[in-house]
Amino acid sequence: MPSPETPRRIVVTNALPYANGPIHIGHLVGYIQADIWVRFQRMRGHDVTYVCADDAHGTPIMLAAEKADKAPEAFIAEIQKEHEKDFADFDVTFDHYHSTHSDENRELSERIYRALKQAGHVEVREIEQAYDAEREMFLPDRYIKGTCPRCGTEDQYGDNCEACGATYEPHELKDPFSVVSGSAPEWRPSEHYFFTLSALQNEIEAWLDSAELQRPVKAKLREWLKPKEHGEGGLRDWDISRDAPYFGFEIPGAPGKYFYVWLDAPIGYFASLKAYCEQVGLDFEALIAQDSEAELWHFIGKDIVNFHGLFWPAMLKDAGFKQPTALNVNGYLTVNGAKMSKSRGTFIRAATWAEYLPTETLRYYYAAKLSSSVEDLDLNLEDFVARINSDLVGKYVNIASRCAGFITKRFDGQLSENFDNSELVAQFAGKAEDIAARFDARNFSQAIREIMALADQANQYIAEKQPWVVAKQDDSDTELQAICTTGLELFRQLTMLLKPVLPQLTRKAEAFLGLELQSWQDIQTPLLGQTINAFKPLMQRVESDKVDAMLEASRADLAAVADSKPAQTTESGKVDDSMIEFDDFAKVDLRIARIAKAEHVEGADKLLRLELDVGELGSKQVFAGIKSAYAPEDLQGRLTVMVANLAPRKMRFGLSEGMVLAAGPGGDELFILSPDEGATPGMKVK
Ligand code: 2FM
Ligand code: ZN
Repeated sequence: MPSPETPRRIVVTNALPYANGPIHIGHLVGYIQADIWVRFQRMRGHDVTYVCADDAHGTPIMLAAEKADKAPEAFIAEIQKEHEKDFADFDVTFDHYHSTHSDENRELSERIYRALKQAGHVEVREIEQAYDAEREMFLPDRYIKGTCPRCGTEDQYGDNCEACGATYEPHELKDPFSVVSGSAPEWRPSEHYFFTLSALQNEIEAWLDSAELQRPVKAKLREWLKPKEHGEGGLRDWDISRDAPYFGFEIPGAPGKYFYVWLDAPIGYFASLKAYCEQVGLDFEALIAQDSEAELWHFIGKDIVNFHGLFWPAMLKDAGFKQPTALNVNGYLTVNGAKMSKSRGTFIRAATWAEYLPTETLRYYYAAKLSSSVEDLDLNLEDFVARINSDLVGKYVNIASRCAGFITKRFDGQLSENFDNSELVAQFAGKAEDIAARFDARNFSQAIREIMALADQANQYIAEKQPWVVAKQDDSDTELQAICTTGLELFRQLTMLLKPVLPQLTRKAEAFLGLELQSWQDIQTPLLGQTINAFKPLMQRVESDKVDAMLEASRADLAAVADSKPAQTTESGKVDDSMIEFDDFAKVDLRIARIAKAEHVEGADKLLRLELDVGELGSKQVFAGIKSAYAPEDLQGRLTVMVANLAPRKMRFGLSEGMVLAAGPGGDELFILSPDEGATPGMKVK
């Protein structure tokens, strides 16, 4: 039977993961969602090309490679291999997986850049940027730290303060230092290339009107576009260049200037598509042409909506390419109601999950919770165990295991030519279009709810018919065979409905039934008269001790790799590290220290220089931001508490070899700690 719909030509992408870290279960929300949708659309007879790539450029990757003592090319190649394995383990099956560090991407990035330039939308402007003279590199905002200009908290990033929430420009930071070398940054002028987005307001608005977007996403994008009160356009021009040294593509005609990673990242979608087209002989240019019939669907996390909903459509429009048909934005993952946490072990790598639990259980759980909304999705691990065992083992697989034995033993695997209840079979088939509409609209949770309601009905049917009782009655063969055939037909129908979500489990079910379900229409072709294979258990129950072991492994695993590299946007996952284990606390070497000397520091308006006598650890120099609350002479001779094993930090005024502990919000409300009488310099504080 032909598909009820006209075939669509769809190109689907997932956000490209950065090539400097592992795939974790937060990332997997978006990948699993897209993969299910792709599998479903193919079963509907649509022509889908599904591509992805590693996002391989930028400062964090350049520095991570350096730290690993590897050439960036070798570094990203290794990570890509890991990513591809993780996706394969979770049955996220791209037609092609590429890298943004590829010939195709260089060529397309240059082509798009030239088009933007030709359209008069690239301007060169001089900006002042922080420069690390020791490392001879310009510093992105995230690579400068210093004291918050508003509240005085030390060790804050160049763009915002985690203590008071203020946002500011990096040059406003007090006592700034480079995260890369520790040295104080200089401010240097540099020519940067800007994509004049402010002139493309109308074009972006036109795209917004026509694109398929979730309502809150559209609203957010409109808000960003809205002219500000003083009448100017809401969009600022976008800085698309970075200075050498940078791992990326040099801008044509601009030696020493590189495309900013976010310029060539989305172009990576097209680069991957191009590589695939060349491999299989498809017409790439026709697919991405402005008048192409193909739909372009991007599945992304909510932290990167601006890039995909403003910059990317604008670039494409200018370059004369097809713009995205739709963005599907998913929310963040929480685990047990909280952000993923390294110390709780809920920051789980894809590879760790795969080691402890069947990967399809995560696919099923996500499907059961996913909707087309932008809301966060919670993985509640207790609910997860209960749900897998109840839905998949207790309901779905149970149908087959209750019927299969009789067919195998009593009828040599032969199914009946007749159903015992053809109305029920027809009723299931009648639901298929409704469930298809749910899948198509990405309301997977509703689809799963309807499928499980059918599974309940199938189990209820078997419970009422009691084949195990019928089997003991005389002359009951025909009836028994028809009941079990009906049960197995319902199982076959459910298998088809679950196939986009559970490719492995349904493949096993197909092998048992001796058939392959390829199209959604197959639901209408009943299983009558065929021979089935012997039933083997399709799936084991999930035990909660496996979940506990996985959490424990994640804790151990991430303790080993935790380092202080600045956070890079992590798609679909925010990490919460507010809880620590005792072992973490025990790593802090707290000591009683005597302030042997305290003095003002020339040129520093917040700091005092302290010389601390730490007994057996000798003397240490510390720069403390307590000048607003203490005169040096009041401190001299006092005992206090210090962190003695803090990695020394180069500051503008010298090396700081620790930290003294003080309470209070800042300003003149700062109170350094003092021990009770009897404590002596060098004593451990525990
Ligand atoms: O946020 C991220 O993880 C980026 N690497 C996503 C890039 S998506 C696309 F634009 F390349
Ligand atoms: Zn602050």
